[in-house]
Amino acid sequence: MRLRPLGKTGLRVSPVALGCWPISGMTSLGVSEAQSLATLEACFDEGINFLDTAYCYGAEGESERLIRRAVADRRDSVVIATKGGIAWDADRKQVFDASAATLRRQCDESLRRLDTDRVELYYLHAPDPNTPIEESAAAIRALIDDGKVRSAGLSNCTIAQAEAFASVCPLAAIQPPYNLLQRDIENDLIPWCLQHNVSLIVYWPLMKGLLAGKLPRDHVFDPQDGRAKYPMFQGDEWQKNQDLVDALREIASAAGRTVAELTVAWTIRQPGITSALCGAKRPDQIRETAGGARWELREAEIDAIDAALARRGQPVTRWAVARN
Ligand SMILES: NC(=O)c1ccc[n+]([C@@H]2O[C@H](COP(=O)([O-])OP(=O)(O)OC[C@H]3O[C@@H](n4cnc5c(N)ncnc54)[C@H](OP(=O)(O)O)[C@@H]3O)[C@@H](O)[C@H]2O)c1
Repeated sequence: MRLRPLGKTGLRVSPVALGCWPISGMTSLGVSEAQSLATLEACFDEGINFLDTAYCYGAEGESERLIRRAVADRRDSVVIATKGGIAWDADRKQVFDASAATLRRQCDESLRRLDTDRVELYYLHAPDPNTPIEESAAAIRALIDDGKVRSAGLSNCTIAQAEAFASVCPLAAIQPPYNLLQRDIENDLIPWCLQHNVSLIVYWPLMKGLLAGKLPRDHVFDPQDGRAKYPMFQGDEWQKNQDLVDALREIASAAGRTVAELTVAWTIRQPGITSALCGAKRPDQIRETAGGARWELREAEIDAIDAALARRGQPVTRWAVARN
């Protein structure tokens, strides 16, 4: 897979990165340790060198601990991104705390779980309403100065927050949601990142599986399945999204490809996008999505995708930003 520059860091990352939330087993169902390790192995086989995790991926850091086992003998060839500033309380509710002391402590704990002395990219997971963002940025700057973190990122932010952060700490990457159905960042963050040479590492490229094209129209979500709460997966919106997926399937099939490959190929060719964070919990999933990086969409295919999106119309964008 042809690697791309990560901001101005000098690091190079694959355009498909493995999103390591599903292997934490917190909201995705049927995850096993053996399958998770096999998924990590498959991602390296596919030429992916970029892993995305976080302090809060798993009640006890399961995602970071699995990564430690998978990268043990190849640490220098893997770019690990983790995040701090969100944790779980005893009732499994998210706690936002991005004070300097907490970020320092969480980073140290992430390094211990990963069994490494540094990570290549450390994000503020989300701005903390109770901590000035400049304080969080200064804490990450200090982690860079200490050699624990090679570069800094910011997730779930506005441009104003990105500017405030960057005034204190050099910013390599921003991590927002982005996919065929969620395109708000085209109006603000994409132009800003292009202007400042900040990489966009986007989450939910597959819209949690919807845009992988394998969930049947009559799929009944298990009540434990975290997706059921999003409007994208409900009622009329669900039917319209399934119509879109059917149209994408026709375009993909004509090229001998799958919907997941089309979705990924489209995402990583968008201006300003450095990598798409593709979540997976089984090897076949990441093998398929990695295939999207080997498909150069032709103009006629892009026109057909645009036409399918126009027929689908504006989706309901009433989702809470995920922060997982
Ligand atoms: N910064 C933040 O606040 C934030 C928020 C959200 C996510 N993220 C990051 O972004 C990554 C991606 O988000 P995500 O994992 O939630 O969602 P995603 O990548 O949009 O979707 C992943 C899910 O899609 C399904 N899938 C994947 N490949 C497939 C394939 N080839 N065929 C069929 N189904 C497939 C699987 O679910 P099923 O098998 O269950 O259908 C998988 O768990 C995360 O892992 C995380 O690293 C960051």
